[in-house]
Amino acid sequence: MKDYGPIGQYRERAHGYFAFPKLEGEIGNHMKFRGKDVIVWSLNNYLGLANHPEVRKTDADAALKFGLAAPMGARMMSGNSNYHEQLERELAQFVMKEDTALLNYGYQGMVSIIDALCSRHDVIVYDAESHACIIDGVRLHPGQRYVFKHNDVEDLEKQLHRATTVVKKQKAGGILVITEGVFGMAGDQGKLREIAALKNKYQFRLLVDDAHGFGTLGKTGAGAGEEQGVQDKIDLYFSTFAKSMASIGAFIAGDRNIVDYIRYNIRSQIFAKSLPMPLVLGNLKRLELLRNHPELKAKLWSNALKLQDGLKSKGFDIGRTDSVVTPVFMKGDVPEASAMVTDLRENYGIFCSIVVYPVIPKGNIIYRLIPTAVHTDEDIQRTLHAFEETKKKLDAGAYRQETIPDMAEA
Ligand SMILES: Cc1ncc(COP(=O)(O)O)c(C=O)c1O
Repeated sequence: MKDYGPIGQYRERAHGYFAFPKLEGEIGNHMKFRGKDVIVWSLNNYLGLANHPEVRKTDADAALKFGLAAPMGARMMSGNSNYHEQLERELAQFVMKEDTALLNYGYQGMVSIIDALCSRHDVIVYDAESHACIIDGVRLHPGQRYVFKHNDVEDLEKQLHRATTVVKKQKAGGILVITEGVFGMAGDQGKLREIAALKNKYQFRLLVDDAHGFGTLGKTGAGAGEEQGVQDKIDLYFSTFAKSMASIGAFIAGDRNIVDYIRYNIRSQIFAKSLPMPLVLGNLKRLELLRNHPELKAKLWSNALKLQDGLKSKGFDIGRTDSVVTPVFMKGDVPEASAMVTDLRENYGIFCSIVVYPVIPKGNIIYRLIPTAVHTDEDIQRTLHAFEETKKKLDAGAYRQETIPDMAEA
């Protein structure tokens, strides 16, 4: 009871403000926070589909027609429908794979995919900065695992060498390499092309979590694999619907026999109720819009580049992002970071997320900005101005204080 964890320790001052804030109003570039208008940069509503009129109508009509209950039961038992299978077929075609299995949530889905695919003799090799769903899936693995330094292909090769030795010695098992299409904190793409090239030298299969790449990268929006010209080298392609699709659910795509194996062995789906019909119909509509309206992705990128170029020209460090995720790296401790966030929210009307220790090393702060297709030029200019002014205050020590401001709800 003494240890509430790294963020929980601040809960009495932070709850409802720095943690568990309540954004109100229609999802979009402008929302209300504690009664004030704010420009929102913290929602993964990349293509602006959350409030697209056709999406809202489909969601509402499907809820009216089917309710949230249908279909009842797990897919395998009694919870399947033609719509579920239609969505799987359309997704497979869109990401250029033979088959797709739907997942209720990305996080649970990924944990369970890793669990289903890997048995005792298999070896997992994964990127050090992988999302928690990958890390937690690896935790379930009863066999060997090796981690490679983030996006470091030389280190990956070292780990592949070790993994190959293990498999040879056991005379059993295979190697699964897991990485991401876009790393959600720093915005850098996984080096999929270089990783895929190692398939000429080592025998492994490649699983890619492309949560942030799906819908935002590639000529058609099929993601980081398409962007880097190696979609066919990705054995298993995964994405959630929680970002570009502005919904709930996820999918895994690949060769028919592997997807079928997953379908019949994935515990998070077999032992859980299937996706409710409004989500399935809503996701079909979102996929249709994502496919047929490339101008949404173009607008997203135009906004992202304006924001990123603006920040760079004002001397901000945005690291190595080559996606729309826009991190702003600064120096300071947790109280300073939270004082600056308070200033941004209260006096400039800017709402963005902050990442601090222990997620990143002590003394560093990342302000994470997520541009969308619905942001305007004025939003970008106001934000650049606010960042310029607050950075000056940060550098001058104006936010220095003992502890975080007390912003908890009364
Ligand atoms: C890289 C990555 N993988 C998986 C997930 C989890 O997806 P879901 O929200 O559908 O559980 C997320 C966050 O949504 C993510 O950013």
